[in-house]
Amino acid sequence: MARLLLFTSRLVLVLTSCLLVSSNGQTCTWQDAAVPVASVDCRHTSSLLTVQYDTAVTCEQDLSAKNLTSPPAISWSGAHAAETYLLIMVDPDARSPCQPVSRWVLHWAAFVRGDKSLQITEEFVSYAGPRPPEGTPAHRYQFFLYRWVPEIELLRPSFLGNSDTSRARFDFDQFKVVNRLEHLEASFEFLYSR
Ligand SMILES: *[C@@H]1O[C@H](CO)[C@@H](O)[C@H](O)[C@H]1NC(C)=O
Repeated sequence: MARLLLFTSRLVLVLTSCLLVSSNGQTCTWQDAAVPVASVDCRHTSSLLTVQYDTAVTCEQDLSAKNLTSPPAISWSGAHAAETYLLIMVDPDARSPCQPVSRWVLHWAAFVRGDKSLQITEEFVSYAGPRPPEGTPAHRYQFFLYRWVPEIELLRPSFLGNSDTSRARFDFDQFKVVNRLEHLEASFEFLYSR
């Protein structure tokens, strides 16, 4: 009986939030998504990437209206020159944060190396700056740096149907599984709306 009550109250909660979402689409944020994607924890400074466009960006900074058409410089204080890393940039909030039907949009995918400052050694999906639909609340643009296990042969995003011309609905979860991306070293996110 208690479980039934709990289930019923959850159902009411879900229905209420759906109603709120549909009546208030312009302010609906990623926390309201049916399956929200976690935000990057900006407090873990040792595992934060440094992302620099014209100027350095702080984690979760709102960069709306800035010109981000050129790729940023990326560095990480923990990088070892002997390692290869895989850098991925995604938008989990497309088309709109609480209705992320195009999740994930793949914005960048490259192998990088370096001692702190990371240089691209092989780019297999070129950088594309944020272009969220006008009028939707801010999207998050998330960067992830994985340590690459050299014995693995990369299954490229094209394996999942994604390329420079087809970036939406990138199955990031499956990409991580097929490429055994188990060592997340650093991450970062900023916000952008138009
Ligand atoms: C944005 O910057 C790029 C160079 O990085 C430049 O080519 C482009 O014209 C700029 N766009 C605007 C709208 O200022």
